[in-house]
Amino acid sequence: MISMTDEKPLLDVQNLKTYFYTEEGIVKAVDGVNFTVQQEEIFGLVGETGCGKSVTSLSIMSLVPPPGKIVDGKILYKGKDLLRLSKRQMTSIRGKELAMIFQDPMTSLDPVYTAGYQIAEPIIAHQGVSREEGWKEAVSMIGRVKISAPAETARAFPHQLSGGMRQRSMIAMMLSCHPSLLIADEPTTALDVTIQTQILALLKNLKEESGSSILLITHDLAVIAESCDRVGVMYNGKMVEIATVEDLFANPLHPYTKGLLGSIPTGTKGELMTIPGSVPKPIDPPAGCRFYPRCAQAMKTCENSAPAMVEIEKDHLVACHLYDI
Ligand SMILES: Nc1ncnc2c1ncn2[C@@H]1O[C@H](COP(=O)(O)OP(=O)(O)OP(=O)(O)O)[C@@H](O)[C@H]1O
Ligand SMILES: [Mg+2]
Repeated sequence: MISMTDEKPLLDVQNLKTYFYTEEGIVKAVDGVNFTVQQEEIFGLVGETGCGKSVTSLSIMSLVPPPGKIVDGKILYKGKDLLRLSKRQMTSIRGKELAMIFQDPMTSLDPVYTAGYQIAEPIIAHQGVSREEGWKEAVSMIGRVKISAPAETARAFPHQLSGGMRQRSMIAMMLSCHPSLLIADEPTTALDVTIQTQILALLKNLKEESGSSILLITHDLAVIAESCDRVGVMYNGKMVEIATVEDLFANPLHPYTKGLLGSIPTGTKGELMTIPGSVPKPIDPPAGCRFYPRCAQAMKTCENSAPAMVEIEKDHLVACHLYDI
């Protein structure tokens, strides 16, 4: 069988380090993270609150707010390092090839413009079509995200739409640029379960139609199980395990992943809050494995030596001393 990761990746994040220089100290929010997103795959990023999922995605988009800084690493997109591009080059890639859906659509939709205007705007800017054509395309885009009265919705302002409609409008806005890579940061967290399922189906569907890749960020394992091809598990600024969805659920290797999977409450959303202890703020993180203070299987070596990520089986990587040979 040909493995997913044999192909040249669309996105290749190497040793990414993003730190926040705060008055309390240096917050090592993302500290040496590696992963790839392949062509036409949905890669899930999962982990408890504060582990660095959003900062990873903001780093890819070059949208890290101050006092944050990318201090090391490479973000190769189609083989080119995004960190070496000028502001202008990056802005142009961001509009055309990379798009991001935020958890709260109100942060991306402008309250003073209609949904249609905001969807039409990037179409007009990037495809050089007339206002009229841009508007027509926007209405058709709104229809594609399964909103039943597209023309009417196009004329509505964000506050006139429900949460689910706003989220769909934002997806329409992002997809109107036909991005190669769509980053969706908790796109369904604020929505009820039925609408959540519809939105995920929509993303999958549009991925298949347009051949784009999706980096899907969530702390909900049910969402991962339903939508993703491969998953990366993050803990406190580090990637601890990467596997196909099937492997991750059938054969989790890292004690943290095992804890997360054990903590799915049945029948409800998979909030990951039942491992004893909590994620420490990554100022002065432990010298060795960052999970060491909470790990039931910790050994002496884990205290001072940080485990490297190793490929244990094809496409299954883990960073844990239990698997040292
Ligand atoms: N602007 C900032 N200034 C200082 N620290 C920050 C800033 N933004 C994020 N951080 C810190 O970086 C770390 C990672 O945050 P991040 O938002 O990436 O977590 P997350 O995994 O997305 O969590 P959640 O699931 O709650 O969205 C946290 O410790 C957070 O406090
Ligand atoms: Mg986040």
